[in-house]
Amino acid sequence: MNMATNTAETIGDNHQTVGTPFVDNAKLSMRNVNVFYGEKQAIFDVGMDIGTNEVMAMIGPSGCGKSTFLRCLNRMNDTIEGCRVEGDLNLEGEDIYGAKLDVVPLRARVGIVFQKPNPFPKSIYDNIAYGPRIHGLVSKRTELDEIVETSLQKAGLWNEVKDRLDAPGTGLSGGQQQRLCIARTIAVSPEVILMDEPCSALDPIATAKIEELIAELSENYTIAIVTHSMQQAARVSNRTAYFHLGKLIEVNETEKVFTNPDHQLTEAYITGRFG
Ligand SMILES: Nc1ncnc2c1ncn2[C@@H]1O[C@H](COP(=O)(O)OP(=O)(O)OP(=O)(O)O)[C@@H](O)[C@H]1O
Ligand SMILES: [Mg+2]
Repeated sequence: MNMATNTAETIGDNHQTVGTPFVDNAKLSMRNVNVFYGEKQAIFDVGMDIGTNEVMAMIGPSGCGKSTFLRCLNRMNDTIEGCRVEGDLNLEGEDIYGAKLDVVPLRARVGIVFQKPNPFPKSIYDNIAYGPRIHGLVSKRTELDEIVETSLQKAGLWNEVKDRLDAPGTGLSGGQQQRLCIARTIAVSPEVILMDEPCSALDPIATAKIEELIAELSENYTIAIVTHSMQQAARVSNRTAYFHLGKLIEVNETEKVFTNPDHQLTEAYITGRFG
């Protein structure tokens, strides 16, 4: 699409996402997604795929709907009074909003990590063991011990906490708490990990650790990450989705989005003209 002509139609009612929003090996597949808070519409006709073992970054100005869209993917919006989601959302061909679908196992398959680390007021061990216990994934203490250890190892936290598993999770540093929350998500063997600004409360060293972790995790998991840091999106993701006022403007290979975007709104955002 020509850059000079696309603004009006893409931000108008008949807007169309430019770039490559769809892939062949979709893990998550969304079509015609509209989200409302009461009367107010927050997401407008969004369609995109997230590929298996892909890291998808979601960027855009504050209030453009990134968190709202992310929460659709594991039905976290169900917990928000007055929020209504329309459209087709599928996890490997299964309707995420289907009548038969149970949200508890869905949220184990599609885990979420929030901006502010939110460990349970329990020991480090019990933070990780909680999910496997309630999902009935283990019967023996030795199995549980193993899940706790491997989850903490995958989250890059094991060496820092192995001698104090009985200490409260809330006593860890912010960066450690965030890795604890990632370990807790991993403990129930998810297929997809959603992250909503997971580093925004962290210092650069803790942020670098989480970014390394994202790169490792992407070998086995599909990841969608909302971030305000364009450097972070550039470092960790395969494709980047640019949202603007509830509309999905562009999806492209991350390098393309940050060097030669197809849409002038994306260009305006990445060059800092608004945001
Ligand atoms: N619980 C809610 N009730 C009513 N409106 C909401 C609610 N949550 C979000 N909104 C509205 O929906 C729109 C999208 O908000 P959302 O939080 O998804 O944006 P965002 O892109 O994640 O922004 P930020 O970068 O600031 O986190 C905004 O207009 C916001 O005011
Ligand atoms: Mg948000």
